[in-house]
Amino acid sequence: MASAVSTPDFAFQQCIAPTCQATYSIDQALTSCPQCGALIDIRYEWDKLPLPKTLDDFKKQWQNRYSPTAFSGIWRFYDLLPFLPKDKIVTIGEGQTLLQKADFVAEFVGLTEGELYLQYEGMNPSGSFKDNGMSAAFSHAHMVGATHAACASTGNTSASLAMYSSVSNLMRAIIFIGSGKIAYGKLAQALELGALTVQLAGDFDDAMARVQEVSKSMGIYLVNSVNPFRLEGQKTIMFRVLEALQWQIPDWIIVPGGNLGNSSAFGKAFIELHELGLIDKIPRLAVINAVGANTLYELYEKRGLRWNKGNINTKVIDQYYQELDAKGKKASTIASAIEINRPVNLHKCLRALNTCNGVVREVSDQEIVDAKAKVGSGGLGCEPASAASVAGARLLREQGVIEPHEKIVCILTGHQLKDPTATVAYHTTDQENFDSVLGSRGVQRASFANRAISVPNDSEAIQKAIQLYS
Ligand code: F0G
Repeated sequence: MASAVSTPDFAFQQCIAPTCQATYSIDQALTSCPQCGALIDIRYEWDKLPLPKTLDDFKKQWQNRYSPTAFSGIWRFYDLLPFLPKDKIVTIGEGQTLLQKADFVAEFVGLTEGELYLQYEGMNPSGSFKDNGMSAAFSHAHMVGATHAACASTGNTSASLAMYSSVSNLMRAIIFIGSGKIAYGKLAQALELGALTVQLAGDFDDAMARVQEVSKSMGIYLVNSVNPFRLEGQKTIMFRVLEALQWQIPDWIIVPGGNLGNSSAFGKAFIELHELGLIDKIPRLAVINAVGANTLYELYEKRGLRWNKGNINTKVIDQYYQELDAKGKKASTIASAIEINRPVNLHKCLRALNTCNGVVREVSDQEIVDAKAKVGSGGLGCEPASAASVAGARLLREQGVIEPHEKIVCILTGHQLKDPTATVAYHTTDQENFDSVLGSRGVQRASFANRAISVPNDSEAIQKAIQLYS
């Protein structure tokens, strides 16, 4: 396929601001435009590439399961993200994920049987969708010879970076986390996988600001989703969704919104597939915020902020952030992965919403934990942030924005075991535990709790209890 051509010849970086559009070579490590400060896109001169004629051509990749790049759920779509030579790819088998029809959840959401699918990204090696983007950014870091890579994280990016660093042994991982702001499963990963873990007195937004300063001044390669290569990897989540649907386009893609990397990447994936003539329809996109971290909802739905052909009214954003600061308002939600008030990919997400005729909604922590329990009892457990997508789908159905017969794909971004504290608190019989973890978040009920039954240490009593409850 594309490997005959020297990759960097037809890939380049470009500022997304229409007033700037400066271009840069692919071997630079940029997280913003050096000329105007806007975000950067990876672009390709597609006409110089031997592209597949139809998406079905990608099927052929599956015939070569022993090649690590064909096996990877990212790199078997190499032709749609050919920014580096294949020998620089760092893969650990990411992207072997499942699109699962979930009738049980469809009923909860209010959809016709057969119309709701869950894209289960928890199956990635580090347990979240982050591996899609990390494989791409880490490969680029390897290509440019980086020795250290850093990120700020609510836990999953850091777990992913820690894993790529330790498995490949190519770079030292340095992760910045807000003190007390990261779920136990994720903290466990960072520590065990040997990342240099910098726990700072602040939240994710603080960690994000500091890691940008520190990595710039120390020349450390930054792998947060301001890194445009991350988003190239995350485009493949959509390629796999379409592949699993045999290239039928669903009506809606629903995704939780935190730093807005996923939604931005999905929008880019659809723009490119459409421009290349590989799809003829673009699905609608719904991005779901938690009520306690709802910057996108506030700006897009309440204050009317739009992409506006790239001429974004940044005054509206500045004004909102000033208001947050004046009130001393920090992000706060049980969905700690999306506990973010200053999403770094806001501009690109506005572009994605524009491309995909998108909507934004906010859901409460109560709605998130209930949706999470429903998803879990249907078989595929997820972490709280992921369940925001299902809670959002339900809300959009209730509001009549989504029709019962429409085909919906909710992205389950992270594995259930990432945040055992929230899960156990929900299902536990111990009220104190519930109150301290969930009550403090305004969650009042655990309507779908699967409570353990307490029994004496006695066989007969146990058998009676099983008869009674099963
Ligand atoms: N779901 C999970 C499980 C996440 O970990 C994240 C982000 C999101 C959703 C939001 O995705 O940023 O693309 O809008 N986690 C980041 C982290 C911030 O540091 O792991 P997004």
